Order: sequence, then C-alpha cells, then structure tokens
Amino acid sequence: MQKPNQRLLDQTCIVTGASSGIGRAVAKSMALEGANVVINYHSGKKEAEEVADWIQKDPICGDAIVFQCDVSKEKEVEALFKKTVSHFGTVDVCVANAGIQIDHPLHEMPLEAWQKVIDVNLTGQFLCAREAIKEFLRRGMRREISKSLGKIIHMSSVHEEIPWAGHANYAASKGALLMLMESICQEYAAKKIRCNSIAPGAIKTDINKKTWGTAKGEEELLKLIPYKRIGIPEDIGSVASWLASDESEYINGTTIFVDGGMTCYPGFATNG
Ligand code: BGC
Repeated sequence: MQKPNQRLLDQTCIVTGASSGIGRAVAKSMALEGANVVINYHSGKKEAEEVADWIQKDPICGDAIVFQCDVSKEKEVEALFKKTVSHFGTVDVCVANAGIQIDHPLHEMPLEAWQKVIDVNLTGQFLCAREAIKEFLRRGMRREISKSLGKIIHMSSVHEEIPWAGHANYAASKGALLMLMESICQEYAAKKIRCNSIAPGAIKTDINKKTWGTAKGEEELLKLIPYKRIGIPEDIGSVASWLASDESEYINGTTIFVDGGMTCYPGFATNG
C-alpha cells in the first residue's frame, strides 16, 4: 500500500538529535513520506531504538537505523555520514536538529556554557551541512528521485530573531545559524542544493518542560503566543517533511517560522 503523500520515496534522510522531542517527530514524519531515516542520538540509545522500531513496524514507512554521535565532533559527524552512505547508498536530506540550552545570566555565564552551546548548536550544524553538501556533490543529480541535488534543513528557533535574556549563548547560536543557512544557499543554490531553516516557537519538549510543565508557567507562555496554543513536535515534523519534498522546491535560503505567531510581538496587541 502506498500513501498518496509519499513525497520522499527512495530518499535518505539524516536527522540529528532524533531520539526525542522535535527530532523524533521529524524522523517519523520523514519516514511516513517513504524516506529511509538515520536516527542520530547523543545519549538516548533506548529512545532512538524505539523511534527506529516505530518506523520499521509501519509498512508505509521507509527503513531506519540508529547512529550515536556527538554532532560537535568532526570525526563523529564524518562517521555518521559514512555509515549512512554505506548503509543506504547516499543522503538526500539532512536535518541538523540537535540542539541544547544551558541557561545563565550573562554576567555569570561560565565560558564552558557559552562554548558548549555554540559547539553543539552552531558548529554541529556546520559540520552536518558540510558533510551533506560533500555527499550531494559526490552523488550527483538523480532527477527521478528529486528535483534538487539535496536538501539541508537547519533547526533554528524564534530566537534567531527574538533576543532572549538569560539565554544569550542560545540566542547567539541561533542568530548565527541564519547567516550560515543563507550563506550556504548563496554558495550552492546554483548546484540545486536547497538550504533552509525552520524556526520553532514554544514546542512542548523536554528542553522547555520547566516552563510549560506547571499551570502558571503554561499561562505565562501562552501570553507570548497569539494563537493561544503551545506547539507540539508534530507541528514541526509536518513542515520539515514538506520542506524536504519537491512541493517546496522553489523555497531556498529562507527561515520558516512555526511559532503560532510568537514573532509578531503579542505584547504590543494591547500596549505600545
Ligand atoms: C527554546 C524553548 C523556548 C522557545 C520559545 C526555543 O528555541 O528551545 O526553550 O520555549 O524557543 O521561547
């Protein structure tokens, strides 16, 4: 049986940080589109295997493997791509999703907290994009599979635009991703590589459970969301698989905000 929307049939997609949260939903959504998925994880082995099992049990889905690596380590990212190519033949889509938050007031932020967040959120995404582009160029165009040579999706945040007190390392990493993404587009669009970002707003995952996990926290968070609903990982998964497909072929060098309107400054609705 074939789903009408199998828009990524015979394509292979790497998703970093795919054992939980947004990455997990993206991996499942890609697989439901028919893609083979490489579920990268850092420490959640059991959770990553559960995602792979879920994919393998559904005949509509492509295949799945898991691969452990720290995306901030060059050799480990190289190994992730090597394994993907040896197992599935190539890479068509790379979703550089893995990201962390280590929050401190700026004047108390240890250098390690700054460095670690930049290493994972920015350098990790650079390494994944670099390896993906190398593989796209090596493999060459497969018109019967996709109109593009390859697709890179950076998982950014509304904080590539909205400043975030107490989270300067995180906001700086996401702001820098914008320039990384746009520069990649400018450099490789002529080769038919598409590079875009998705900028989620507040999505219910472990990263922000402290905020939405209490009634008070949820109420405060909803004040920042015009649509009056906190997002769920699937809100991002469905956008990611569409953005990876030929249906969005002409979208390149753009950030798609998936935030219920958070970037529309809701504080100004009744003020200013
Ligand atoms: C952060 C979340 C936060 C959201 C909205 C995301 O990028 O990871 O912790 O809730 O932005 O502020």
